Amino acid sequence: MTSEFTWGVATSAYQIEGAVHEDGRGESIWDRFHARNGDTGTIACDFYHRYREDVALMRKLGVDAFRFSVAWPRVVPAGRGRVNAAGLDFYDRLVDALLDAGIEPFANLYHWDLPQALQDEGGWTERATAEHFAEYAAVVASRLGDRVGRFATHNEPYCTAWVGYGFGEHAPGGTSARDAFAAAHHVLLSHGLAVSEIRRHARNAEVGIIVDSWPAHPATDDPGAVAAALAADGLRNRWFFDALLRGAYPADVLDAHAAVAPPVRDGDPQVIATPLDWFGINNYSRTLHDGHGAVVRSPDGGLTAMGWEIYPDGLREVLCRLHDEYAPPPLYVTEFGAAFSDVRVHDGRIHDVDRIAFLDASVASIDAAVAAGVDVRGAFVWSLLDNFEWAEGYSKRFGLVYIDYPTLERVPKASFGWYHDLIADRKARAVAVAAA
Ligand code: FCB
Repeated sequence: MTSEFTWGVATSAYQIEGAVHEDGRGESIWDRFHARNGDTGTIACDFYHRYREDVALMRKLGVDAFRFSVAWPRVVPAGRGRVNAAGLDFYDRLVDALLDAGIEPFANLYHWDLPQALQDEGGWTERATAEHFAEYAAVVASRLGDRVGRFATHNEPYCTAWVGYGFGEHAPGGTSARDAFAAAHHVLLSHGLAVSEIRRHARNAEVGIIVDSWPAHPATDDPGAVAAALAADGLRNRWFFDALLRGAYPADVLDAHAAVAPPVRDGDPQVIATPLDWFGINNYSRTLHDGHGAVVRSPDGGLTAMGWEIYPDGLREVLCRLHDEYAPPPLYVTEFGAAFSDVRVHDGRIHDVDRIAFLDASVASIDAAVAAGVDVRGAFVWSLLDNFEWAEGYSKRFGLVYIDYPTLERVPKASFGWYHDLIADRKARAVAVAAA
């Protein structure tokens, strides 16, 4: 890795900001859709008011970049039409605070908080939402594009579409495969439309998208298990990779779901496959499939607090796969990390050794991909802070910094120190290599 490699941390607006009723923010679909345990993002980490403290923490950590998302309902409260100046001002202040601290702002335009007013009209199942997204992208790019060097359009279109409209686990809680396919198509379309708008208004910015990819493996060599893994890979991975990087949806997925296929118009595939400056990958684990199509859990590597198999090699596999099969633009690992049940012990510290072991193995996995010739330009730990983990509420902790929710006190965990040292060490090595 060269000294150019970007080390960062990632977050998203609804998971950390709170302040949902302030400064003219509109309602989002997550304001209505509470976590399984009733938790909401009303206060979250109160980042909206405490961002300066958190920027100072990042400066201490030594990261090069901060990946955050802009809340569409803060900027365009009804999803289309009137722009809320106070909402844009917040991101303007945040970007300036980051730049003052020497941290690159890496801005993502959509991390699942759709304006409720658009959901009332069908949300991502409607093509019009893609057009409204492009208008919103233009507004943000015009305001921040002079200082933000990298924009992402979307975070994890698979989750937006399938977890939100197909499986009922995330807002808006839909349970229809037809809606999930329509949403998957419109999100991708909105991405392509937004890429052009961002480029028009932020001429120097590099534009990309963040796709979540978990390898889908057969649990046995039973032909049924192999077929189930292939089908899962199609829906979750190839659907998005093929559309974005090859300009066509995978034929096997379209064939298998012909009755609920999305409404694709002439020209859409070309818009979706607009060439990108970079491509982001989020990976947390893999899925294992048996011959009955069910997902099975492997206890081999142990499980994180999310119940996800500890499988850091998934990152290497996904990065190498993109490189080998898709000729992608430069790659970023836009999220890697793990939830464990952190406890604050008597000395007030959090000795999160499991997280350190996981992150360390993940970095080794990225190193292995780079050694195999994959062009990876950076990596972002999920997450800077413990935060509102969607359906799991505050019960799952992913942060390098512990949040004491009753007081909102920030307590750096042992993993914070580990990441600090890793970054310092990698930079020192890069300088030594450059000088040699
Ligand atoms: C990803 C999401 C992120 C966070 C992590 C744990 O799928 O992008 O918001 O919830 O998982």
